[in-house]
Amino acid sequence: MRQHGTWQGDGIYFGADYNPEQWPEQVWADDVALMRRAGVNLVSVGIFSWALLEPSPGRYEFDWLDRALDVLHAGGIHVDLATATASPPPWLAHRHPETLPRAVGGGVLWPGGRQAYCPSSPVFRERSLALVEAVADRYAEHPAVVMWHVSNELGCHNVHCYCDVSAEAFRGWLRERYGDLDRLNDAWGTAFWSQRYHDWAEINPPRSTLTIANPTQQLDFLRFSSDEQRAQLRAEREVLKRRVRQPVTTNFMIGMAKHMDYHSWTSDVDLVANDHYLMATDPYAHLGLSFAADQTRSVAGGDPWLLMEHSTSAVNWQPRNVAKTPGQLRRNSLTHVARGADGVLFFQWRASRAGAEKYHSALVPHAGPDTKVFDEVCRLGADLAALAEVRGSRVEAEVAILFDWEAWWGVELDSHPSVDVTYPDRMRALYDALWRAGVTADVVHPSADLSGYRLVLVPTLYLVRDADAEALHRYVAGGGTALVTYFSGIVDEHDHIRLGGYPGAFRELLGVRTEEFFPLLAGERVALDDGSTADVWTEWLHPVGAEVVASYEDGPLPGVPALTRHRVGDGTAWYLATRLDEAATDALVGRLITEAGVRPPAAAPTGVEVVRRRADDRSWLFVVNHTDAEATLDVTGTDLLTGQPCGGTLRVPAGEVAVVREEPAVSGAVPAGEPSPAAAA
Ligand code: GLA
Repeated sequence: MRQHGTWQGDGIYFGADYNPEQWPEQVWADDVALMRRAGVNLVSVGIFSWALLEPSPGRYEFDWLDRALDVLHAGGIHVDLATATASPPPWLAHRHPETLPRAVGGGVLWPGGRQAYCPSSPVFRERSLALVEAVADRYAEHPAVVMWHVSNELGCHNVHCYCDVSAEAFRGWLRERYGDLDRLNDAWGTAFWSQRYHDWAEINPPRSTLTIANPTQQLDFLRFSSDEQRAQLRAEREVLKRRVRQPVTTNFMIGMAKHMDYHSWTSDVDLVANDHYLMATDPYAHLGLSFAADQTRSVAGGDPWLLMEHSTSAVNWQPRNVAKTPGQLRRNSLTHVARGADGVLFFQWRASRAGAEKYHSALVPHAGPDTKVFDEVCRLGADLAALAEVRGSRVEAEVAILFDWEAWWGVELDSHPSVDVTYPDRMRALYDALWRAGVTADVVHPSADLSGYRLVLVPTLYLVRDADAEALHRYVAGGGTALVTYFSGIVDEHDHIRLGGYPGAFRELLGVRTEEFFPLLAGERVALDDGSTADVWTEWLHPVGAEVVASYEDGPLPGVPALTRHRVGDGTAWYLATRLDEAATDALVGRLITEAGVRPPAAAPTGVEVVRRRADDRSWLFVVNHTDAEATLDVTGTDLLTGQPCGGTLRVPAGEVAVVREEPAVSGAVPAGEPSPAAAA
């Protein structure tokens, strides 16, 4: 466990972003008293403090931060200290307008919000690293500091900059990648539309064009942009590592952000930290939360991770900001812990009086501590204190879903067969079906070791490397079960079509050959001969060794197979060539988990989320009841949240949570081929 030993203090971290600079100093003492009342033990400080810490170039004012850290330390509150580089002060753009980012059409993106800097700007890099140096020198030995927080949500607003500085950096990145122009011209397919480049200086970022921009140019710009953000993380980390001994992290946005390839960032942090917010438009927002948590754990290589931010109630940045109902905060937070978080933090401690986020919820609302929110915060603090023994344990999963940011970028480029094919769509459909079946999944990169999984799901893996496609083939041939969904395996890493029939890289594995796509019109539905319905996508598919499980009854391709199954070595590869409705997706996933012998951690009614964490000879069962009815499960042990023993039967009231230390511990090892009782039911 890479970051094991990097956590300080005991138990689960609990806290928030703390912005003392927004308040008169008299408030700080109240803050610390309230933090102690709530059980807060870690706060992130200084994230947006650059303009106060360095009021003019090279002139640092640390006195206020000295006092804030001392007040926190005296109260026994640990600090995750920010490098403070998240948002440059107004003087930077005033003196160096060339540091401002430019939009795709060339317009300047001005200060007045936050993160207004070009990620490739050498001036920003120099000034930000000077600040990191100064902050690290000053606080490396401060006894309150247990962790360092690089920047904040790198790339959240400024990931794509199209200015001339970025263009020059992009050309440098391309030279590194391709070495010579012939290779770049081949990769970008510039024989098309008279795009051949004869000089590096002719190349630009994919700025606004009259029509569809070169897709490989777009893809490479997305890769470059993620790498530029990562470069800032690495540069700040390097400065810190020369000066401090505490672990270094930054807050990822896994589950929300499309444009940072976090798989490539993991080696740059000592522990993985993530931010997550519920989306009001997602009818299954709590499943989205579980998905993000499972993916964060997978990005962390299965190690415990830190939930750096979520919200106690409403956010302020959606069109309609929905408040959390009583009990929802607790279910949300403890679901993150169930799925591997060893710390639960929020944005932010005290709701702001002024500024862009004054309507964002906090631990201490505008109405003060005498509120439902603060009561729930205190209850959560007590819950997390009771879960101290869980820290360091790991989550068990027998199913993997393959996820690759590059595949996401590739599949959502323009000029494709259908705008209705998006990456998160089938990703979440399959994940949600597993969730409803009570099965825990890892969400891993296609290059991950798959040998430990009973079932591997491959939604919309449009872009895939040869080595990863071959690894999936070996996994199945070795006895695994895999499901691949439509528009997968289509292109290589340059976005070049794999010729000879779709789905290209997976044709042999799946035992099928598709000669043409037949996307459906908006709202058009087709019926299948097993009684299910589908929309969005059909394709003219021929089985080449695969058995046909279901075919279309109507639509453009009556009689053509829609779902196939292919024996490969000792395993089975399924292909789903259309977008099944929710009930049919659930039924298919249920059949797969039964056939693959996947077993949920415990039998529970649908809507009752159950996850097991294990450490050596101990195990804990997290049960989150999202339903309106009391749930009864067969569990033996002690509920850490109530302190009550449960001798065989655990009752979890509607909307409540239980965390049972199982006695004796339960092993997640499932006897080969044993069907899941829940799935069979
Ligand atoms: C992000 C940021 C925070 C704050 C919250 C609001 O997570 O990191 O500074 O803006 O969003 O939800």
